Amino acid sequence: MFNLVLFGPPGSGKGTQSENIISQFGLLHISTGDILRAEVAAETPLGVEAKKNMDNGELVPDEVVIGMISSKLDAHPEAKGFIFDGFPRTVAQAEALDKLLEFKNNPINLVISLEVKEEELIKRLVQRGIDSGRSDDTEEVITNRIKQYHEKTAPVADFYKEHGKLVSVEGIGSIGDIFEAISAKIEHSLA
Ligand code: AP5
Repeated sequence: MFNLVLFGPPGSGKGTQSENIISQFGLLHISTGDILRAEVAAETPLGVEAKKNMDNGELVPDEVVIGMISSKLDAHPEAKGFIFDGFPRTVAQAEALDKLLEFKNNPINLVISLEVKEEELIKRLVQRGIDSGRSDDTEEVITNRIKQYHEKTAPVADFYKEHGKLVSVEGIGSIGDIFEAISAKIEHSLA
């Protein structure tokens, strides 16, 4: 089993690169953002509550997302590995994930951090807001999402660095070139 965390700020390309990684390496994709958006669209009680946080660019409470991850892991005992996209986003989430995976004897193998400067993140997300109308892609909400990232999510990189699992990849350039750099890191870790 191979478990990968794809880490980075909003707009760094986690979702885009996950699609390529899934098809090349056969990992099962778990995106907490996608799961939450599906809950919002279905107007479930969880979705109605989560929408309030998401629309402001705030994080959804840890216990909610940790519960979602636990169910996803249990639902896929056949998976040959998982790619975690947008999770963990706090140190508490990272510690909870370690506990869940420890229980299954399959720890996180590698954390790839996509490095993209803030100016480029804002440009990409504002453009996506125009193209797709994703409700949290307005300049005001994007600014808060990035602020939340610095305050609550960036420490997760230090957590994995201390555990010797963090590597960085330049996230600016063509999607294909970035994927090649990611693939090289995965191949190296698998070898
Ligand atoms: P989530 O859906 O996880 O959003 P995010 O982390 O803000 O990430 P994005 O999806 O915006 O960016 P991405 O890095 O995936 O980049 P993408 O590939 O899409 O979370 C949304 C909300 O849900 C949060 O704010 C929070 O409220 C809640 N939430 C989710 N998970 C949570 C958790 N664990 N705990 C608590 N709350 C949680 O690319 C972005 C754009 O750039 C696209 O248009 C793409 O086409 C373009 N692009 C990609 N690569 C390139 C490139 N190389 N060059 C040019 N453009 C590119």
